[in-house]
Amino acid sequence: MQKIIAKGITLGVYIITAKAGGKANGMTASWVSQVSFSPLMMMVSIGQNKYTKELIRQSGFFAINVLSTGQTDEARHFGFQSGRKVDKFKDFGYSNAPQGSPILECAMAYCECELKDVFPAGDHELIVGEVVNAKLTKDMTPLTFVWGDYF
Ligand SMILES: Cc1cc2nc3c(=O)[nH]c(=O)nc-3n(C[C@H](O)[C@H](O)[C@H](O)COP(=O)(O)O)c2cc1C
Repeated sequence: MQKIIAKGITLGVYIITAKAGGKANGMTASWVSQVSFSPLMMMVSIGQNKYTKELIRQSGFFAINVLSTGQTDEARHFGFQSGRKVDKFKDFGYSNAPQGSPILECAMAYCECELKDVFPAGDHELIVGEVVNAKLTKDMTPLTFVWGDYF
């Protein structure tokens, strides 16, 4: 069942970032979607024990950084190790969005969200935020992901 769903549903590839108590971190996420026009709201589904989720709860803000085609090393870097153990930003330039969420220099676009709700969803939690600012910095094609393959 999982394979059929994963093969048929195209996903983007994003780095979800947050900063709290002087610590910045980011994680790769594909389960990301717009969920409201007015107010403009986004949702990220985040699994248990992810360090990024802890920072989002502490700061009350997060950013969705959009990767573009070819940025598979970045997806792996932020997606296969935890910020609890390594500083994932060590070799990555970033600036701060107006509410302090880290914005990766390598991202083609971002939106910063204010945390509004958290809903349980099986072994994940749906983190829902209202978009407070957003910017398209490079006019490129977003990276997409279907069943283990990047496009
Ligand atoms: C392509 C890709 C997509 C991912 N999508 C998600 C996702 O939507 N939700 C999630 O909780 N983890 C997702 N992950 C796994 C997290 O990025 C990974 O567990 C990460 O190490 C968590 O980091 P943290 O503990 O520093 O927050 C994805 C990983 C990859 C490589």
